[in-house]
Amino acid sequence: MSSPLKIYEFYDLSSHNTMGVSAKARFFTEVNTVDAHRKALEFVQENELPVLILGGGSNILFVKDFPGLVIHQNSKGIELVAENDEQVEVTVAAGENWHQLVQFCVNKGWGGIENLSLIPGNVGAAPIQNIGAYGVELESVFSSLEALYIKTGEIRTFSKDECAFGYRDSIFKKELKGEVIIISVNLILQKNQQVQLSYKALSDYLEKNRINNPGIKEVSEAVIAIRQSKLPDPNEIGNTGSFFKNPVIPVSLFDDLKQKYPDIPAYPVSGEQVKVPAGWLIEKAGWKGKREGEVGMHAKQALVLVNYGKATGQDLWEFANKVKRSVHQQFDIDLTPEVNIIS
Ligand code: EPU
Repeated sequence: MSSPLKIYEFYDLSSHNTMGVSAKARFFTEVNTVDAHRKALEFVQENELPVLILGGGSNILFVKDFPGLVIHQNSKGIELVAENDEQVEVTVAAGENWHQLVQFCVNKGWGGIENLSLIPGNVGAAPIQNIGAYGVELESVFSSLEALYIKTGEIRTFSKDECAFGYRDSIFKKELKGEVIIISVNLILQKNQQVQLSYKALSDYLEKNRINNPGIKEVSEAVIAIRQSKLPDPNEIGNTGSFFKNPVIPVSLFDDLKQKYPDIPAYPVSGEQVKVPAGWLIEKAGWKGKREGEVGMHAKQALVLVNYGKATGQDLWEFANKVKRSVHQQFDIDLTPEVNIIS
C-alpha cells in the first residue's frame, strides 16, 4: 500500500528558492514516486487549483504567494541502463541534484557534463531550459526523458528532437509549459571524452594555472573554481544565477552599437543575428555592483540579481524591471528573464 499524501497549508517557501524569498504556497507536498504524483494531481483537480512543480528552486522568482499546490519533486536514483566500450547511458530521477550527478559521473570517468559543474538545481529542471555553461549545453548529452501529463496522468517518452531544445529553451517552456512533469532523464556519456575547451574563460584559466592536457576531472575543477570566483553562493546571498538571457539581436543593430561602443562583445548566432552578453549591457548601463536597499546586481557578475537578505519578490522584480528599462533606453535591446517568474 502506498502512503497517503501529506499536504501542508500556507507553507513558507523561503528554504525552497535560492533567491530566499519568503513567499507562501497555499498548499505544498513532497513527492517521490509516479503514484504520489498522480495522487497530488487528483487533489489539484478535485480542488481546481493551479499547480507548480518545484525542484531545487534555483531558477524561480516568487513575486507573489502561490495560490495552488506546489509539488516538490524529490525522487532519487541514478541507474546505469546501457554500456559499451565507448559510452554509458544513465537514467536519472528528476529529484537528483544536478551537481551531485556531475560529480558522480566525473568520478566514474564518464564525460560530457563536466563543463556543467556546480550549476544549481535538480536534474528534472535541466531539460526545461537546456542548461548550459562554458561551451556545453545539456542537449549535447541528452538522449530522452519521461514525463507525466498533468491533465491525464499519462506517461510519455520524449526524444531529443521532440524536446525542441534551443538556447535556454525547450518545448517545456513553450507549447508544454505547465502541462507535464518530468520524471526522469536519460543521458549518454563518453568513456573517452574529448574535453570541450572553446570557452575563453575556461581555456584562460587552464593556461594560467598551467594545466596541460586536462581530462574531465581537471575541467570540472576549473569550472568550479571559475564559478566560485564570480557567482555568489546562494547559501550566503540569495540569487538565481543569470537573471536575464543573453539577448539575440539583429546584426544591423549590433553594427550600430559597435560604432558607439567599440568594445561590445558578441557571439555569432547566424548570418543575421548575434548574441550579446547581458552582463556587459547591464554593466555598461551602470548597474554592476549597484545596490538599492536589500536588492542589487552582483559586483562580480552584473547579470546576477541578488537578495541581500530581506527583499521581497516584489522588490526584486521591480529592481529587475528598472534595470531592464535602463538597458532598453541605452541600447534599444529588450532583456527577457531567464528565470521562471511567478506573478
Ligand atoms: N560581462 C561583462 N560584465 C559582467 C559580466 C559579463 O562585461 O559583469 C561580459 C564579458 O565580456 C564576459 C561576457 O560578458 O566575457 C560573458 O560573461 P560570462 O562568461 O560570465 O557568461 P555570461 O554570458 O554572463 C552565461 C550563462 C551562465 C554561464 C556562463 C558561462 C546565460 C544567461 N548565462 O553567462 O549561466 O554560467 O555563460 O558559460 O546564458 C545561468 O544560466 O544561471 C548561468 C549562470
